Amino acid sequence: MTGDVDCVLDLSIERFLKHSFLNPIDANGTDLENIDRTLSVAPMMDWTDRHCRYLHRLLSKHTLLYTEMVTAPAVINGDQERLLAFDQAEHPIALQLGGSDPAQLEAATRIGCEFGYDEVNLNVGCPSDRVQSGKFGACLMREPELVADCVQAMREGSTGAEITVKCRIGVDDQVPADVLPAFLETVLARGVQSFTIHARMAWLAGLSPKENRDIPPLDYDLVHQMKADFPHLEIVLNGGLATLEQAKEHIERGLDGAMIGRAAYHQPADILASADRVLFGSDTDTSGEDAVLQMLPYIEAHLMKGGRLNHITRHMLGLFAGRPGARQWRRSLSERAHTDGAGPEVVLAALAHMQAIAAE
Ligand SMILES: Cc1cc2nc3c(=O)[nH]c(=O)nc-3n(C[C@H](O)[C@H](O)[C@H](O)COP(=O)(O)O)c2cc1C
Repeated sequence: MTGDVDCVLDLSIERFLKHSFLNPIDANGTDLENIDRTLSVAPMMDWTDRHCRYLHRLLSKHTLLYTEMVTAPAVINGDQERLLAFDQAEHPIALQLGGSDPAQLEAATRIGCEFGYDEVNLNVGCPSDRVQSGKFGACLMREPELVADCVQAMREGSTGAEITVKCRIGVDDQVPADVLPAFLETVLARGVQSFTIHARMAWLAGLSPKENRDIPPLDYDLVHQMKADFPHLEIVLNGGLATLEQAKEHIERGLDGAMIGRAAYHQPADILASADRVLFGSDTDTSGEDAVLQMLPYIEAHLMKGGRLNHITRHMLGLFAGRPGARQWRRSLSERAHTDGAGPEVVLAALAHMQAIAAE
């Protein structure tokens, strides 16, 4: 127990020093370390939309939240309000961009900054081989110079957001221990100081994007080695982290932060409700129940604007995962939230049902 308290204190002191007035200011005048990345929820297409992020924010005040990836051309030419708008409560929030055209990425970053994002992240990890608007994602691990041009352009487009990169350890036949340090070296030379590394290769030929999140083996040690080799860089670990405890272990071992994807989506309360206490030094936890009640005004507002209940509740299905009544909670919401006219009463009934079973 004492060890735990000491550890939280250590983390708090470290965080204070990291985020204090001693931080460097970059050429654009940005405080490079004003975002705390001790814990983040990964960008996930179709999952981490604004409703999901609002829920996650209720569970943790400090965890950094990422948007789904939006391609730079979509930001420039698409419905910006639909793609980029977010609730002020979602801060700190990072916009993730996909693309490989420096001019487009610069323009998209500028627009992202106008919307108020705290960070703009370049996706160098998505294993999709779609070539719609030029290449993007993990295949860029083969082109560090191009990534460097992209991040430089993004820094020029930024009016306050920090520019970061999320990458893999390599692709296809690359040797991670060789290419990853060379990639970091090339990109950091253009001023990127924070990298989130998904600790597995992407095998672009032959595996689907989903398989590429599970099949290539994880190499956490290589990510730790990168922190040892580049101690001045902020290195955040991603990939396969299933609990907050695992995240904490990697941070205690020396990494700057952990990014959790699927586990945070499927069991948001397990990962996030105690994150502020365990990792950010706050003294309180939240709970799934608290989050449900605090979602109600948000749900009302969404319905008033013509939205449907299940747009929001689909992200809430895992709130009580692993607890008595979790199945009933899930089922009540799945069966009723998509029906015409469904409103907050559906959520309250599902909660009451779940609680009644838990009390048995
Ligand atoms: C449904 C889904 C969508 C994803 N979309 C993105 C994305 O838009 N951008 C990105 O960089 N990674 C994306 N990822 C990968 C995650 O950000 C993360 O790197 C990966 O899931 C590994 O972390 P985890 O094991 O904690 O889930 C996606 C993952 C999932 C499951």
